[in-house]
Amino acid sequence: MIKLLILLLIAVVAFLPIYLLYLKSPPPLPEVDLNAWWGHGEPKEDTAIKPYKIKFTESVVKDLKDRLKSRRPFTPPLEGVAFEYGFNTNTLDSWATYWLEKYNFTERENFLNQYPQYKTNIQGLNIHFIRVTPKVPAGKQLVPMLLLHGWPGSVREFYEAIPHLTAVSEDRDFVLELIIPSLPGYGHSEASVRPGLNPLSIAVIFRNLMQRLGFQKYYIQGGDWGSLITSNMATLFPKEVLGYHTNLIFLLTPTVTFFELLGSIYPPLVVDRQLADRMYPQSEVYSFMLEESGYMHIQATKPDTVGISLLDSPSGLMAYILEKFSTWTRKEHRSKVDGGLEFRFTKDQLIDNLMMYWTTRSITTSMRLYSECFNKKYMALKMDEIPTKVPTWTIQGKNELGYLPPWLIKLKYPNLVKDNPIDDGGHFLALELPQVFSEDVLNAVQAFRQWHKSSSIKTDL
Ligand SMILES: *[C@@H]1O[C@H](CO)[C@@H](O)[C@H](O)[C@H]1NC(C)=O
Repeated sequence: MIKLLILLLIAVVAFLPIYLLYLKSPPPLPEVDLNAWWGHGEPKEDTAIKPYKIKFTESVVKDLKDRLKSRRPFTPPLEGVAFEYGFNTNTLDSWATYWLEKYNFTERENFLNQYPQYKTNIQGLNIHFIRVTPKVPAGKQLVPMLLLHGWPGSVREFYEAIPHLTAVSEDRDFVLELIIPSLPGYGHSEASVRPGLNPLSIAVIFRNLMQRLGFQKYYIQGGDWGSLITSNMATLFPKEVLGYHTNLIFLLTPTVTFFELLGSIYPPLVVDRQLADRMYPQSEVYSFMLEESGYMHIQATKPDTVGISLLDSPSGLMAYILEKFSTWTRKEHRSKVDGGLEFRFTKDQLIDNLMMYWTTRSITTSMRLYSECFNKKYMALKMDEIPTKVPTWTIQGKNELGYLPPWLIKLKYPNLVKDNPIDDGGHFLALELPQVFSEDVLNAVQAFRQWHKSSSIKTDL
């Protein structure tokens, strides 16, 4: 009897990979409403594109300073504790003082306004975006690319990368034109007034934004939520999206989970030996996930409750957001009293990003995206299990929150042109290593253009 059971078990284990890889059919492509209305009132089209500038008004700055000044003394950290219990309050105190006394609001406002920004209404929401159109010398082609940030980031993450990305080079026959929007409910983009604006619906919004700007075909790039949203754009609109570049590749599917587990028996089954420590031992990966994903559970269930105090307290918002810039850049930063925040970032850079949330009072609406994604309705779409033929390129930082080997990436993106597992860099790659990030994006677009030249369906971009 036992022998029979063991035989049966072996048969199942042997058959499961075959089923998962070759027999299981993908879920259907969901039907999307290209005109869903997320704003107040009756649908009413307004196609105007209006120039926009970020303003730190006197009253907003005065109110912020008053709040920072009147902050109550923080609870001191435990003896010998750095960031292990959360943001170190001694460090927070010095950062809050910097925000109050040293952060030059006028200078930073000018800095943030250095690139042209606009707003246009898409499906009822005023969407904010940066658009950088470089001058193109004769013989070079202007090629549009959409860049999308995530949480708790903003368009600010791309500022240092923009000059690299838009540079004219002898090595390339194209120059990138960049469209960098704020996600709906983030920073200067308006939030939905009703439930349901999930990463699929946001993909529709940004596809419509590109159409509004006259781009029928374009390249896309994203990290964090931006990665998921641009992935959905590639899945939904493969005729429009010419190439997909991401610095966060994450696939929540039974097949990927199965092989990740299988690899824990013997990692070389699933991953190159020299990259195995990015996936294994799985116990380490899971305990890190448990220790660091509490915020996700809160935001997926009660974003409005936690949002109340974050909206009210600049030091609270600072701790909540900057803790992520510490830990997601390097895990080891948890044991540093200063959180390693200035290892690759400056105070001004990180406070600029906070200002995107503070001045627009968008922290609650930004966190709601977790609730709109981690629910039965969105999960039932199984977007990660629907393959897309859009050529894809991944760059995976050594300190990113996860790693996937190319052959598993290909289950969703069969036309993976390249995976670039770099030996540096964390979650906020564009901000941390702007040059490395930009070069990789440009190499990807170069390769995508080559790919299109040799494919049957030609494109002139
Ligand atoms: C802040 O920046 C503005 C504009 O760059 C400059 O004129 C001003 O002197 C700065 N203020 C301080 C206190 O440094």
